[in-house]
Amino acid sequence: MQTEPEQTLIEGRGLARNFPQRRGLLGQARDVWALRDVNLTIARGETVGVVGESGCGKSTLGRIMLGLDEPTTGTVDFDGRDLFALSGPERRKLARRMQMVFQDPFGSLDPRRSVGAQIADGLRTHDIVPANEIPTEVARLAQQVGLSHDAINRRPHEFSGGQRQRIAIARALATRPDFIVADEPVSALDVSIQAQVVNLLMDLRRDLNLAMLFISHDLHVVRHLCNRIVVMYLGRIVEEGPADKVFGSPAHPYTRALLESTPSMKPTGRDLGDRVLPGELPSPMNPPSGCAFRTRCPLAEPACAQAVPPLDPQGPGWRAACIKAGPVKPAIPEPA
Ligand SMILES: Nc1ncnc2c1ncn2[C@@H]1O[C@H](COP(=O)(O)OP(=O)(O)OP(=O)(O)O)[C@@H](O)[C@H]1O
Ligand SMILES: [Mg+2]
Repeated sequence: MQTEPEQTLIEGRGLARNFPQRRGLLGQARDVWALRDVNLTIARGETVGVVGESGCGKSTLGRIMLGLDEPTTGTVDFDGRDLFALSGPERRKLARRMQMVFQDPFGSLDPRRSVGAQIADGLRTHDIVPANEIPTEVARLAQQVGLSHDAINRRPHEFSGGQRQRIAIARALATRPDFIVADEPVSALDVSIQAQVVNLLMDLRRDLNLAMLFISHDLHVVRHLCNRIVVMYLGRIVEEGPADKVFGSPAHPYTRALLESTPSMKPTGRDLGDRVLPGELPSPMNPPSGCAFRTRCPLAEPACAQAVPPLDPQGPGWRAACIKAGPVKPAIPEPA
């Protein structure tokens, strides 16, 4: 429960991103809309989970919110400043406050350099502490993520996957960020290790008041960690809201299908039948008209093909884009 008024840290507005693709021998160019009409606000200290099937635009959204990729249209304000309108030096200054943690820490760690030297990179680049204080600060960061002190002098390959992810997190924390995008940060880890890294992220979020965009296929992890959930389908947000609402009584049939296809997360309430997600995901180059989910939706009717449904309010901070959506209400007898 949030007790203080929420303070917006990052605000993405009207975000769209297309990737032109070349197809076949004739070389016709077709666009993939990786993101369309996305509005997303993240408050200080808030953890927003992004879920949806592969290719629905989660990583694209994460990269744009972090300024690592530019949207085709739309803006991202970080702490009230338009990221993509800033000069190089201004942007670099803000970059310190935003960091990314990837699925594969090996991709971002240099196998030849010591862990300590790599944690120190951000400290140097952004002048976080005076040069003579760097060793102390590196030791503090290592301790903060649960690495032993002697880890500092070793190289990344000497560590297990979970420890390597701790190293990557320490590197990200070095610049004292306010915002972290974690893109599938535990998906590559053994299940037994995942919980430890998730718990670390929860502790850090609380201790450092970090805002986090947490991208994951794993609904269990997302439910455990996130205050708010964003559900994406073919580049659009189809439902967003408080984690207990979205997971407890999903308003969008896609959210419901995602949950039903996850063992032990079947939602209560209106029963749409015992289904897993039927059919194939349509091609993002040629999405269905109207509601893109209608080709797999058990509730679809002709009207669903007519227009993209707006994200309509379902409750406080809770919206869903479905003309048949409605929060699942407990059965109340009709008044006589
Ligand atoms: N650099 C790129 N060039 C061309 N197409 C891209 C590029 N990046 C992403 N796409 C396309 O944009 C769509 C969204 O991709 P994105 O990586 O954001 O999805 P995702 O939800 O992160 O998927 P996953 O769960 O597999 O990581 C996909 O159709 C993908 O093929
Ligand atoms: Mg991705």
